[in-house]
Amino acid sequence: MNDQLILQIAEAMQKSQKTVVLSGAGMSTESGVPDFRSKDGLWFNMKPQDVATVEAFEQQYDTFHSFYQQRIHDLKQIEPHIGHKTIAKWQQFNLVDLVATQNVDGLHEMAGSDPVARLHGSIRTFHCADCQKAVTEEDYLRKQCPKCGYGRVRPDITLFGEILPQRDWETALHEIKQADLVIVIGTSLEVYPVAELPSLTSGKTVYINKEAPPLASAFDIVLEGKAGEILQAIDRAL
Ligand code: APR
Repeated sequence: MNDQLILQIAEAMQKSQKTVVLSGAGMSTESGVPDFRSKDGLWFNMKPQDVATVEAFEQQYDTFHSFYQQRIHDLKQIEPHIGHKTIAKWQQFNLVDLVATQNVDGLHEMAGSDPVARLHGSIRTFHCADCQKAVTEEDYLRKQCPKCGYGRVRPDITLFGEILPQRDWETALHEIKQADLVIVIGTSLEVYPVAELPSLTSGKTVYINKEAPPLASAFDIVLEGKAGEILQAIDRAL
């Protein structure tokens, strides 16, 4: 690990008046949640078109339903790791002002992070796509809306082709534009509009990821490695 860069990030955090963490699926792999585009990622064995689009929900509900039922089941034993807890601690000490995440797993919140902008929604809450009423996980697993009696229920996640949750998006956009420092962690930055966010800040940008970013020159500091280890190293340097 590059100690020089770790020190630079810690110094930037201490100087910054406003710091935003922008995270992706790579933030959760050390908790046992697969990401999407790595060689053992979800989209390696499955086409997102078949399960994560509006069309899939409307035309292949059974495939859609079992895909998310499996993800919900797999999340049962999952806990936040030291990386999530470190970020939550930084928020408590006002070293980080906002966590904006693409993750629907709720691990940042479980670690105590607050505020969190959920840019792609949540897999832990559900609604009926017909009557729009909120329903429970049990209702989702039973595949029928108890409120209207006929509607198809789904998790509150953002599917490809849908707009992002507006309040969370507006919060992230506003804070990132105002930020002195944006720390991007565990995302391939392949999915828009979130992938555009780092370029919208006038502050310093840091990219922490197992693989190099699409455009390294777009970041002031790039640190390749595992999120949990790097976050702990930064914490020690603070
Ligand atoms: N530490 C750091 N980086 C990691 C780790 C780790 N422990 N594990 C994986 N990574 C990196 C991978 O190398 C990859 O570059 O995290 C990145 C995850 O990228 P994606 O799988 O593309 O996930 P993400 O960027 O969050 O996807 C964005 O796409 O499928 C949709 O809605 C879904 O929110 C998701 C969006």
